[in-house]
Amino acid sequence: CIDIARLPKETGCFTYDPGFTATASCKSAITYIDGDAGVLLYRGYPIEQLAEKSSFLEVAYLLMNGELPTPAEFSAFEHEVTHHTMMHERLKNFFQGFQYDAHPMAMLAGTTASLSAFYHDTLDLEDPEQRRLAAIRLLAKMPTLAAAAYRYSIGWPIRFPRNNLDYVNRFLHMMFEVPSEPLEMNPVVAKALDLLFILHADHEQNASTSTVRLVGSTGANPYASVAAGITALWGPAHGGANEAVLKMLAEIGTPDKVDAAVARAKDKNDSFRLMGFGHRVYKNFDPRAKIIREMTHKVLGELGVNDPLLDVALKLEEAALKDDYFVQRKLYPNVDFYSGIIYKALKIPTEMFTVMFAIGRTAGWVAHWLEQQEDPENKIGRPRQIYTGSASRDYVDADKR
Ligand code: ACO
Repeated sequence: CIDIARLPKETGCFTYDPGFTATASCKSAITYIDGDAGVLLYRGYPIEQLAEKSSFLEVAYLLMNGELPTPAEFSAFEHEVTHHTMMHERLKNFFQGFQYDAHPMAMLAGTTASLSAFYHDTLDLEDPEQRRLAAIRLLAKMPTLAAAAYRYSIGWPIRFPRNNLDYVNRFLHMMFEVPSEPLEMNPVVAKALDLLFILHADHEQNASTSTVRLVGSTGANPYASVAAGITALWGPAHGGANEAVLKMLAEIGTPDKVDAAVARAKDKNDSFRLMGFGHRVYKNFDPRAKIIREMTHKVLGELGVNDPLLDVALKLEEAALKDDYFVQRKLYPNVDFYSGIIYKALKIPTEMFTVMFAIGRTAGWVAHWLEQQEDPENKIGRPRQIYTGSASRDYVDADKR
């Protein structure tokens, strides 16, 4: 029961909204989603146009600054990001402290949080220039930390960023052995990766971005706030879904087993769900999934990959889209359904899939963090609860329990 006299004075009402399905926690001018129409806009620009014409770094500028950059603004931005790609030499000690087979998301979250211990010149949140520099650092260093986590996990020496390369090719260079690795500098590969970063860059108040804002609302520093976002992204109901999709497709194995998997997903006594299907906001086709679907075929064709998992994926999509259970609940493939297949074709190991998502989403996390810090209405996030526990009672001494 709710004590009416204790309702918050300013609103006069108290809502119980588990999962925040109908509660706005902030105002934001960054990203707009119309889940019924399948529309996604970054700062007003349709995702389809950005996917076709823009680049990830330009999109990052747009999300952070609100407008597309002029050529001179972009060049200065790219130069600054490039300048901050190195990680502090002592960060290597952090990596060396991890068990060799640690999950790269664990390493990414830990080392991102540790940046606050290295860059004291960006911890004064009252100073807009320090805030901006912290955002640039996070954007610049995330691929370096991600590639270092991967190389550490396979026992290879960590590579320095090669700053005569662009954002995506620099990441590929840090990840893979050259020249034996043919992926680097392949324009289709670079475009596919850039596209995935664009599509993952922001998605308004998803769980990880809301986490960044919740932590940011306390006045915690940007590195700690983004590290918290990384941990929220890790879960299979959020960014971890791309890893889970690949595991699921591998478990299904062949197209003839798809119908049995669909039947399991519909069975309410079975916890199995079709990973990569459904979305909290999209009750129509996820516009990002449409773009990725096309790119998947292009990448596999270009690289000459004949992946049996793609046959399973296509059969699964076809079966689910025809099935009443999925149609009635509006469960369409989401962005993560195809991204894993592209990552696999690019020889990025499964444990790195969510890390790849984190690189792209960093643009959105820092944009939201910057917006929040400038918001005069920002106050500490502090949800309420409906208490379901015991009424007041007296302590019972140990010998009487
Ligand atoms: N497979 C089978 N059934 C599903 C699935 C699925 N993937 N997703 C939802 N349902 C069913 C639910 O069982 C429920 O059925 P009911 O009404 O009979 O009880 C109904 O559809 C509604 O599902 P909810 O869980 O209430 O929807 P919610 O909005 O809370 O969840 C979520 C959205 C978490 C994405 C969910 O669809 C899911 O778990 N999908 C699989 C994981 C996934 O792909 N996550 C990535 C999300 S996208 C991203 O983070 C970038």
